[in-house]
Amino acid sequence: MLLDVKDLNTYYGASHVLQDMSLAVDEGELIALLGRNGMGKSTTLKSIMGLVKPKSGTVMYKDQNVTGYPPYKVARAGIGYVPEERRIFPNLSVVDNLAMGIKGGKIDKGNPNAWTVQRIFEQFPALKARRGQKGALLSGGEQQMLSISRSLMGSPELIMVDEPTEGLAPFLVKEVRDMLEDINKTGVSILFVEHNLKVAMSLAHRIYLMGKAHLAFTGTVEELNAHPDIRAKYLEV
Ligand SMILES: Nc1ncnc2c1ncn2[C@@H]1O[C@H](COP(=O)(O)OP(=O)(O)OP(=O)(O)O)[C@@H](O)[C@H]1O
Ligand SMILES: [Mg+2]
Repeated sequence: MLLDVKDLNTYYGASHVLQDMSLAVDEGELIALLGRNGMGKSTTLKSIMGLVKPKSGTVMYKDQNVTGYPPYKVARAGIGYVPEERRIFPNLSVVDNLAMGIKGGKIDKGNPNAWTVQRIFEQFPALKARRGQKGALLSGGEQQMLSISRSLMGSPELIMVDEPTEGLAPFLVKEVRDMLEDINKTGVSILFVEHNLKVAMSLAHRIYLMGKAHLAFTGTVEELNAHPDIRAKYLEV
């Protein structure tokens, strides 16, 4: 396993928001983490990334125990993270926003799979067209594409993306969805949180479904579709 998360328990004050949460992502996988509002999806990603400290449990990444590491060390180990808020630098250009994503300020020239600004622009020409534009002036969809692209600049083996299509117009939803698929095809594993079921079910190789603070179901898209009871209980309104 590339990422192996076992029995995470995370608290905000007295509130026990992750209870023995476990999940795993293998090399090359595209995995969706689903569940209703407030179940603990974002907290799961944040606990992996070191943005919140789990009280117990382990996060193994490439056989290295990174539990409780500060976020920059988790990033250096090879995990990219795209938070829900996107966090584009409003006064920096697209190119400079991308440059902010380079780990330790240096592109690893010895790595043939390294992502560079040039490679990002080749893969995503829509961003290239906006290369000199300030972050603040980009559309929501462009900001999301930039934020995802920036997470690639450290050449991670895995990126975690929190609600990539949230708040986007339908044609942009498709663009961001296809972008994730394209990135995965280059060999980058992806763990993403998504409320848009159509996007999630059309992309994911496997699904983790959260109930309140814990894992409620895990399996393939076909397996989830074969359980309308589980879908109704944990996903649909
Ligand atoms: N910083 C915080 N302090 C206290 N409680 C928090 C904090 N962040 C989240 N929570 C609570 O922890 C629980 C899990 O939140 P989390 O954001 O992980 O859920 P989520 O599944 O990502 O939800 P959503 O789909 O709405 O994004 C919720 O009850 C939420 O209110
Ligand atoms: Mg969330």
